[in-house]
Amino acid sequence: MDFALPFSAPVSLVSSKVLGNAPLQAEAENQIDPTLDLEAEISRLKKDMNAVILAHYYQDGDIQDLADFVGDSLDLSRKAANTDADVIVFCGVKFMAETAKVLSPQKLVLLPDEKAGCSLEQSCPPADFKVFREKYPDHIAVTYINCSAEIKALSDIICTSTNAEQIIRQIPKDQPIIFAPDRHLGAYISKKTGRDMVLWQGTCVVHEQFSVKEMVKLKTIHPDAKVAAHPECPEDLLKHADHIGSTSSLLKYVTEDSAQKYIIATEPGIIHQMQKAAPHKEFIGAPGADGKCSCNTCPFMALNTMEKLYLTMKNKTPAIEVPDTLRAQALLPLDRMLKMSQNIPTSKIST
Ligand code: 13P
Ligand code: SF4
Repeated sequence: MDFALPFSAPVSLVSSKVLGNAPLQAEAENQIDPTLDLEAEISRLKKDMNAVILAHYYQDGDIQDLADFVGDSLDLSRKAANTDADVIVFCGVKFMAETAKVLSPQKLVLLPDEKAGCSLEQSCPPADFKVFREKYPDHIAVTYINCSAEIKALSDIICTSTNAEQIIRQIPKDQPIIFAPDRHLGAYISKKTGRDMVLWQGTCVVHEQFSVKEMVKLKTIHPDAKVAAHPECPEDLLKHADHIGSTSSLLKYVTEDSAQKYIIATEPGIIHQMQKAAPHKEFIGAPGADGKCSCNTCPFMALNTMEKLYLTMKNKTPAIEVPDTLRAQALLPLDRMLKMSQNIPTSKIST
């Protein structure tokens, strides 16, 4: 990897688009024949369209179960880059589908709900990020994949929670770094690697909700439970974790570890795969401030439903469009990420 500076940060701020029709989609959802076998219809459409269904671990269990591949952000990007399907149906959020389109521009990329965004993406508007970058002209920008294509285009290297530490360790020690947009992941990686990074102050609305006070109470009730936490959680919560990692890392940990009970501090959709992988073990969702974990469901991921999945395949909308200039600029840091994480194996869990 060549780190000769400066990386040429792009200057244009063009936007990607989701071509959809929200009112039509909502109306159509209510008009689906309730006797329709949605699973069978989705399978039929998948064959007819030569489509692949990719799903993130935070999707509902029924969507995960009919997906061709379920994974974390890195594995889903790799699948999107390498599939020979004509259509990618992305059951996840917009930045994931957009990444798939950047990596596979010739494919039709569908997202069941065009409003499926992400609080981290929202926290980092391109115009503000451009100004931020200009304040640190000697820094390279390592940016978490949870951001828009415009932010990717303004970045030097993309990372995910699976490869962030490894990527930072490959950057020469004298090279200053900006890390955006998740300040908790940035702080965690900074601590692990000893690298002092300038952090953009974004957060994930889901992982911010976990309550340390309630976690301590829950640990007292279940002293035999181990805590598995995602690094998007705040540092004071991570202090209580036995294992910290990306969704695929948490899944691997609870599957291979010898304990029988776990408190899971990430979006509870992942518990579906945990239960499938280790049916004899017990998984408890980490609590929010109200003592329950229902507030930790990602409101964006939850927008995707089986009905919308069926409709997006039937109507071939909403579809992701990324203008060529933006795509070329966003591809560069994504390609760097894929090259810099070549030795990280793909997670074993797929359907
Ligand atoms: P990973 O699945 O890559 O750990 O990412 C978690 C996440 O927040 C996705 O939005
Ligand atoms: Fe974004 Fe957080 Fe939802 Fe992931 S869980 S999509 S980071 S809001």
